[in-house]
Amino acid sequence: MITNTELEYKGNLYPNEIVNFVRDKDKFYFTTENGVILEITVIQDRTIRFRYGTDYAFQPDFSYAIDPNASRGYSHLDCLETKTEYIIETSKLQVLIDKKTLRTQISDLNGNIINEDELGFHWEENYEHGGNTVKMSKITQHTESFYGMGDKATHSNLKGKRVNNWVMDQYAYAKDQDPLYKAIPFYIGLHSGQAYGVFFDNSFRTHFDFAHERRSTTSFWGDGGEMNYYFFYGPEMHKVVRAYTNLTGAPELPPLWALGYHQSKWSYFPESNVKEIAKKFRDLKIPCDALYLDIDYMDGFRCFTWDKKKFPEPKRMIDELYEDGFKTVVMIDPGIKVDKDYWIYQEAVENDYFCKRADGPRMKGKVWPGECNFPDFTNPAVREWWAELYKEFMAEIGVHAVWNDMNEPAVMEVPTKTAPLDTRHDYDGHPSSHRKAHNIYGMQMVRATYEGVKRYVYPKRPLVITRAAYSGTQRFASTWTGDNVATWEHLWIANVQMQRMCMSGYSFVGSDIGGFAEQPNGELFARWIQLGIFHPFCRVHSSGDHGDQEPWSFGTEITDIVRKFIELRYELLPYLYTMFWRYSKEGTPMLLPIVCYDQEDTQTHFRTDEFIFGEQILVCPIQEPNAKGRRMYIPRGDWYNYWTDEVVEGGKEKWVVADIDKVPLFIKAGAIIPKYPVQQYVGELEIKELILDVYFTEGTENSTVYEDAEDGYAYENGKFSLRNFKLLGKEKEMTIQQFKDGAFITTYETFKIKLHGLPFKIGKVEIDNEKTAIKDVMPDGDGTIYVSKDFTQLRITEE
Ligand code: GLC
Repeated sequence: MITNTELEYKGNLYPNEIVNFVRDKDKFYFTTENGVILEITVIQDRTIRFRYGTDYAFQPDFSYAIDPNASRGYSHLDCLETKTEYIIETSKLQVLIDKKTLRTQISDLNGNIINEDELGFHWEENYEHGGNTVKMSKITQHTESFYGMGDKATHSNLKGKRVNNWVMDQYAYAKDQDPLYKAIPFYIGLHSGQAYGVFFDNSFRTHFDFAHERRSTTSFWGDGGEMNYYFFYGPEMHKVVRAYTNLTGAPELPPLWALGYHQSKWSYFPESNVKEIAKKFRDLKIPCDALYLDIDYMDGFRCFTWDKKKFPEPKRMIDELYEDGFKTVVMIDPGIKVDKDYWIYQEAVENDYFCKRADGPRMKGKVWPGECNFPDFTNPAVREWWAELYKEFMAEIGVHAVWNDMNEPAVMEVPTKTAPLDTRHDYDGHPSSHRKAHNIYGMQMVRATYEGVKRYVYPKRPLVITRAAYSGTQRFASTWTGDNVATWEHLWIANVQMQRMCMSGYSFVGSDIGGFAEQPNGELFARWIQLGIFHPFCRVHSSGDHGDQEPWSFGTEITDIVRKFIELRYELLPYLYTMFWRYSKEGTPMLLPIVCYDQEDTQTHFRTDEFIFGEQILVCPIQEPNAKGRRMYIPRGDWYNYWTDEVVEGGKEKWVVADIDKVPLFIKAGAIIPKYPVQQYVGELEIKELILDVYFTEGTENSTVYEDAEDGYAYENGKFSLRNFKLLGKEKEMTIQQFKDGAFITTYETFKIKLHGLPFKIGKVEIDNEKTAIKDVMPDGDGTIYVSKDFTQLRITEE
């Protein structure tokens, strides 16, 4: 096993001096005397690619991670040469390449070193498999912290840890267990107030050592392929995430119902059981938008079939559920049952679509249906076939969305839990073994699913969910964090994992709320709901064999609490949708660990629990039993306690009261939070007025509300409504300006403005510079202001 003990290991090979340099527009090639070529590509002013070939050659340049639509271009690019080095300069960065060693150093334009090679690129011949084990080591800067890396169930700051990437089915995983279901070889480094990112785009098993083996060194290496990494400069962390997301892509906007509350279980069946669950939601007035069918709806676990005993008329059932606002989501796995009478198996055999072993036979493995073969989703023809298989499900039966599970691929009864490593893959015309294709297999499955679902729900928007993922999978699917456990520790893990995923460019993510394995008690379930409603994907799912896990399964007190929080999520839908729009458009992470909110405050660097939902709401879950509140860190600035409107000043730890019916929740002073009325499902009500919760501050703060038809694609042709609000508060005066864009006409005409923390009594109201009678705009007499949605300036003063 490679331990990366470079100093002890004698097999390492290193580049020597540069003997040739060539520039080709935005690409720079440096060749060493011993045949190493370094290719540096300037992707954007703050994004630079480093790629190393050995033996005077590169491998074919191909990546599944990179978004074909990623934007490129720079404003400035120069290359200088000194006696000892080459210097590439953009408008943000300087890259020095040492002529003797090929080592690089990256600094900002003021000469502050951001990232620097230690041993730099080196490699080892892999005699067992052929090719190289490719390595990179960097100097760890003083007080450097590390974040990102996908779904790692460990402290959010990775300093001192070693992790690796190999997507795995990890039922009931434990804290610190690694690897899990995702391979996202992207990290963020932060030191001296500056953040940068590294994305090691290599689909083999990759390893990262964050000052674990040696305190002064951070290294990463791959079991094959090329040393091929992208460097992103911030200096702000969120800009690093945005640059990474620009490169690997963001998802399109989902239908708004995808952001509602979803209920799942392994498994709801037969039809009468599904109907009962649906009815109970409506009877108890607990909002819910989607119900999930797990594998038991299938005929003997054969994908794209129905067990007609359990679900005699799926189309009728799905239509009836839809009448009542429920969307139906069904599971599809990659394993295709070996069954000569099963049409999908027949088609795949006839067309040679299954993966094969090195020596020829089809790769076989056991999953739910028994022996299965596995389509090679890395073959474009297979993806197209797979996409078409969704036609009947989506277009004819009316299924609304699909979740792809077990797509690591998970294989039962073998110690490796997956396909044998000699399994062959097309890899889009770059034939490979499973060593290279393993980490992207699930991604290619869900990519094909996305194509098919999108094609056949059109003109509506698709929703696809995946368990396995590699960097870039966020373009196609939302995801959940797999088979967690109903424990308090897993509530902590879920919190860290969601923040980490958001920092890894993958914001559309949620946990199995309440825990998949085992059963939570009511208190744990309620506390998990209080966290889960702030996760972009909000779904309760459980293995079912440990008891029920519906909102009403734990007695009326818990039911009432759970309802109250699900209702809060529905109220916050326009805020959440705006967050998603920003993520989709700009790559802005939807949840921010507080270090990303305020990286200059070093007190945030090792915090795990507090996070920002969007840009203006601070949440900190209760993660232990019998709590009446908790200590938490409030980031710098002024914050309103959501429950009491008390204003607290941040930059310190504070005890926050939160009995079982509350969660510590704060709104940034100056924020304008949009809210809808509670609906039992998205679209149940026509929105008659948009509530704006306005939190006064002395100073200015900007807020945004994005809306559109909540489904379909008219928004792409300008049918959206974007409102930017600028709040300006003074001692005895507050002004809100509105800037509008887009051609979508919202159903409401009026804003209902609820003022929080206004330090003066309203004596005068002016709308668009015209004085308005107080009783006309404040008819309720409780301070609520009603104003036309078209106002451009609202000014309120003491007199
Ligand atoms: C896997 C999934 C889980 C699902 C089960 C049965 O364990 O992670 O969500 O319920 O398979 O399909």
